[in-house]
Amino acid sequence: MTRPAVLVARRLFPSVVERLAAHFDVETNDADTLWSRGDLIARLQGKQGVFVTTGEPIDATLVAACPDLQAVCSMAVGYNNIDVAACHARGITVTNAPDVLTETTADFGFALMMAAARRITEGERFLRSGAWSKWAPDFFVGADIHGATLGILGMGRIGQAIARRGALGFGMNVIYHNRSRLPLADEAPIGARWVDKATLLAEADHLVVVVPYGPASHHLIGAVELAQMKPTATLTNIARGGVVDDAALAMALRSNRLAAAALDVFEGEPSVHPALLEVPNVVLTPHIASASLPTRLAMADLAADNLIALLQGGAAITPVPT
Ligand code: DGY
Repeated sequence: MTRPAVLVARRLFPSVVERLAAHFDVETNDADTLWSRGDLIARLQGKQGVFVTTGEPIDATLVAACPDLQAVCSMAVGYNNIDVAACHARGITVTNAPDVLTETTADFGFALMMAAARRITEGERFLRSGAWSKWAPDFFVGADIHGATLGILGMGRIGQAIARRGALGFGMNVIYHNRSRLPLADEAPIGARWVDKATLLAEADHLVVVVPYGPASHHLIGAVELAQMKPTATLTNIARGGVVDDAALAMALRSNRLAAAALDVFEGEPSVHPALLEVPNVVLTPHIASASLPTRLAMADLAADNLIALLQGGAAITPVPT
């Protein structure tokens, strides 16, 4: 009996490749170059499964051009790079990797928020430049985290994990906006309060954006929304580029309309809007919120488990719904 063939679109942990190789003929991307859609299509001929990350475009054109494909398994929780409807229309199962990255990503989101509020990377750049000559009372003064109002836009698993850190660890007052309100049993332990979007923007001292990207969330935070925030506030985006209008944000930061921001994701990443690179009051990281070794291994293992289950005729563990 011939073994199914799978493509691993990025360089991957050897232990995960070995697990896949026990079941499938595996082609890997050891050079870790970002394959274009054309490359992917060529390599996916005769392959039943593909292991992807956030960077591979699995769109309708690719789906139509890969007749053997049965399973698209991503090691990310966000799947805006995958045309799920096109996959499902062709009978291809799509899986993502929820839950395993929640706490690690929340840790990082909280760290970014703190770095922006307390001007940590600005201070470090200053020190490294050799310009530090004295202590001063108003030197790099920022905003407090403890006792401040934490605003969360998108109260899914990661949003709730950030809210717990804020409320239970730092005595923050938590407000959130989400399509649906959390059950009281989830709100009560952290004292979280659902508010409309306008109230969230007006009241948050630190706003953290954690909504999935899609047509409905494109530029959910743009010039109009930034103008509704406190000038002393910070904004942290660990969701997806495109949820925040990066050009509008750069302008708000440059004019001190907003005190500071922290971004782990960017519109059109890995490109970063040049205006963001020129403002000092923004912390910029290269989409690494989930990047602890145990978590990245768990994400990759979950994607591999999904591939193994699906191509052996079983059910997906974490299927993406239509
Ligand atoms: C995800 O899983 O969607 C993250 O953005 C990757 O860290």
